Amino acid sequence: MTDRDALKRAAAEAAVAEVEDGMVVGLGSGTTAETALHALAARVAAGLRVRGLPTSERTASLARALGVPLTGFARDPVPDLTIDGADEVEAASLALIKGRGGALLREKIVAAASRRVLIVVDDSKLVPRLGVGVLPLEVAPFGSQATLAHLDAMGMRPVLRRAADGAPFVTDGGNLVADCPTGPIADPAGLSARLLHVPGVIETGLFLLPTLEVIVATGHGTTRLPDRQQR
Ligand code: A5P
Repeated sequence: MTDRDALKRAAAEAAVAEVEDGMVVGLGSGTTAETALHALAARVAAGLRVRGLPTSERTASLARALGVPLTGFARDPVPDLTIDGADEVEAASLALIKGRGGALLREKIVAAASRRVLIVVDDSKLVPRLGVGVLPLEVAPFGSQATLAHLDAMGMRPVLRRAADGAPFVTDGGNLVADCPTGPIADPAGLSARLLHVPGVIETGLFLLPTLEVIVATGHGTTRLPDRQQR
């Protein structure tokens, strides 16, 4: 296990320790969220009763393989707690960029519906300002050329994401992903609103949710943002 993996595991285990018997748990996507799912499965094997609401088909498959019971919005529209990773966390505001794994739409729907959202990251994800890497946008396939042209005219320089075989990457919802090298994002809420006005943009990777708490694993242990004493 690399040092980075050990940090992901520390953050994931700290989050899973907060799951209580009977909870409906939103199951995030990505490597850190999968580490949390393994930790949750270990607790389920020891007798914890939960229902998991997955944010991707990949997470659903892993949950089934690990013996974590699954549910859906029809039965459980308000998850008690969602545990998910992030690509970037702006330390001061807790605004996030997510979606470099391509699950942003389902991740945002599950996070926005949840009572609490615990984001689990290692300290490499903390940034002073979002936009260190690309901002993913989920885009409708119909008219995607027009949508990308609109985004380009806004200065977003969108790049259609491709799978390993060179074909366009397709999300679980059947959509495309445009990755935008924004540079530093001074106004995440304003940018999010502008992007969501573009016809064909279904969702953005900007997560600006007031319910977020972030568990950050560092070489010196885990810390939580916001600090509970500041709340
Ligand atoms: C998936 O679409 C993403 O939002 C992930 O949550 C994010 O990419 C973090 O993934 P890792 O934990 O693998 O870095």
